[in-house]
This record gives sequence, structure tokens and C-alpha cells, in this order.
Amino acid sequence: MADKQKGAIILAIESSCDETAAAVVKNGREILSNVISSQIALHTLYGGVVPEIASRKHIEKINQVIESALSDSGMTLEDMDAIAVTYGPGLVGALLVGVAEAKAIAYGARKPLIGVHHIEGHICANYIENRELEPPFLCLVVSGGHTHLVKVIDYGMYEILGRTRDDAAGEAFDKVARAIGLGYPGGPKIEKAAKEGNANAIVFPRAKVAENPYDFSFSGVKSAVLNYINGCHMKDIAIVKEDIAASFQKAVTDVLIEHAIRAIDEFQINKFAIAGGVASNSVLRNGMKTACESKGVKFFYPSPIFCTDNAAMIGAAAYYEYLSGRIDGWDLNAVPNLKLGER
Ligand code: KG4
Ligand code: ZN
Repeated sequence: MADKQKGAIILAIESSCDETAAAVVKNGREILSNVISSQIALHTLYGGVVPEIASRKHIEKINQVIESALSDSGMTLEDMDAIAVTYGPGLVGALLVGVAEAKAIAYGARKPLIGVHHIEGHICANYIENRELEPPFLCLVVSGGHTHLVKVIDYGMYEILGRTRDDAAGEAFDKVARAIGLGYPGGPKIEKAAKEGNANAIVFPRAKVAENPYDFSFSGVKSAVLNYINGCHMKDIAIVKEDIAASFQKAVTDVLIEHAIRAIDEFQINKFAIAGGVASNSVLRNGMKTACESKGVKFFYPSPIFCTDNAAMIGAAAYYEYLSGRIDGWDLNAVPNLKLGER
């Protein structure tokens, strides 16, 4: 067990998609180092993440990234109390690089190994800069691969209220950005273009899922944008990218905020957090802030660097696993479709 004075120090590794990342985290909330090697520039050439290229880049970078994380923290492997790694969900080849690396380090250094759920990591990113945040709280997780509305009952205990039936919110941003020629990754590019556009120029649909009011569906709004563009081409009308970006962004964020408000009203939990890459979107952040303020709910959001993929959030999540004594065996494997709350 960790020594009380020093606290629990965890080396965390993340490689589930297109960022190779490592961090050293103390007691789940204090970041001693946070190193991210992004592959975005490489994947931009192909208009999206190419899984095999991602795996190859991870294997090339991972040792350097871990070396930097340890040296930035001023610590050595000896000082670590555990080695944590994202083991799912994500791209299998990409996950395997991090899992194999973490296992080798943990085995060689005789340290406990902790497998972390990537979405749990995104949620726990909120603990880093908000030391006072403790469960229970509601959390909207919006990333490139996931859109979940979650009740965080306790550390490591989650109830999924709703999820997307098709595209994730970030995926819709990426696809629409590609359709209007903004390139990858779409989210930040749509947000930038939208600043110059009129959010009320085009009315795109806000889909409702009949069976569960907390579920999401974003494939309809994506198709509506594609149809709108085709219609303009057929009628020889010039498209205004900025107006499409602003109107699309409004349609997606309206739905996200509406679902959040419904959950606040129903569950009467006075803390709400957002997480994942799309949580760095300023229209979503401002809209959620206003909604929470009007309901007397305290609103939490990570800095943009902790919204997109990073290893500090994995170290934050791992700490609570460590405290509960949940350590993984040497048979830990990558689980590309791992569900939240499943082991
Ligand atoms: O959490 P993340 O780094 O990776 C996944 O776990 O998926 O999220 C990446 C996603 C991408 O789809 C990207 O377009 C989106 O987050 N994103 C944004 C913004 N920044 C990143 N979406 C909207 N607005 C942004 N500012
Ligand atoms: Zn992520």
C-alpha cells in the first residue's frame, strides 16, 4: 500500500485512439506530469483515424512518452504505487500497445496493474481541477466514439441513463466537417467556422428517441446536412459553410442540453459535469453553464486539454480502483467494446 505521507502515485498510460499519452498522478487529483503525443496531423492526411497507422505510431512513441512523463514528474518507476492503462473501449490494435506496455512495466517493476475504462477516465477528468467534486453527480460524456448521459452514483459506480443509438456527437461533428470541406478533426473546425455564421440560418432536425427520452440519435442531423448540401448543388445555390457549421452545432448542442436539463429535473442531483472531446466546445459549455445556473446546479467541466484524450484522466480513475483494492491480473486484455460498469 502507498505510504501515507507520499500518497498513492500512479503511472497512467492511454493509447485507445490517436493520442499516445502517459501521466503521473498523485492521489487521483494532482497531476505531476501529463504528456500527450498527438497523431492528429498524420491522420488529417487521410480525413480520419486509420487504425493500423494509429497502432504503428503508438508502438513507435510509447516509450518516449512514458520516459518524458516520468522525468517531468521528477520520479522514477520505483516511486510508482501502480501502473494504470486504458484497456477499452477503443481501437483494438491501439489499445493492445498500451496494455502490453503497461503489463511489461508492471511485471518488470513488480507493481500492481490497473485496467481502466476509457469513458470512466473521461468522467474522472473532472476530478483533476475540481478537488471538491465528489459523487453523486450527473455527467454528459460526449466524445468521438461515445455519447452517454450518466448518473455517477459513487466512485466506480455508474448508471447509464441514455446513450446514442447511432453516431456519437463528435463523430457527427467530424462527418459534417468533412462534408463541408473543413477536414479532420471536425469539432474544433466546425466551432471556429460557426463563429462567423448564423446559427438560425438553417433548421436542422433535433431527433427524439421514442423509447428512452435520454437516448440520442445524431445520424439524422448528419444526413440532413448532407441533403441540404446536395440540394444546394442541384439548385446551383452557393453554400455558406459558416451558416451550416453554426446551424448544425446549434442543433447538436440543443439536444445535448435538453437531455441534461431533463435529467437534472428528474433526478434532483445538484452537480452536473461534462466530459470528452466535444465538452471543449464553447457553445455546449456556455449553454450547459446557463442551464445549470438557472436550475441552481453546480456545473463542472475540465480544461480543454483534459477533455480530449489524455492519460491524466486515466490516472484519476485508476486511483479510485486502487483505493477499492481492485487490481488486474497478468491476463488483462484489450476489450474494444467494453461497456461502462462492466468488468
Ligand atoms: O474524447 P476524444 O479526444 O476522443 C474520443 O474518445 O473519441 O474526442 C474527440 C472528438 C472528435 O470527434 C472531435 O471532433 C471532438 O471530440 N471535438 C470537438 C471539439 N474538440 C474536439 N467537438 C466539438 N467542438 C470542439 N471544440
Ligand atoms: Zn476519449
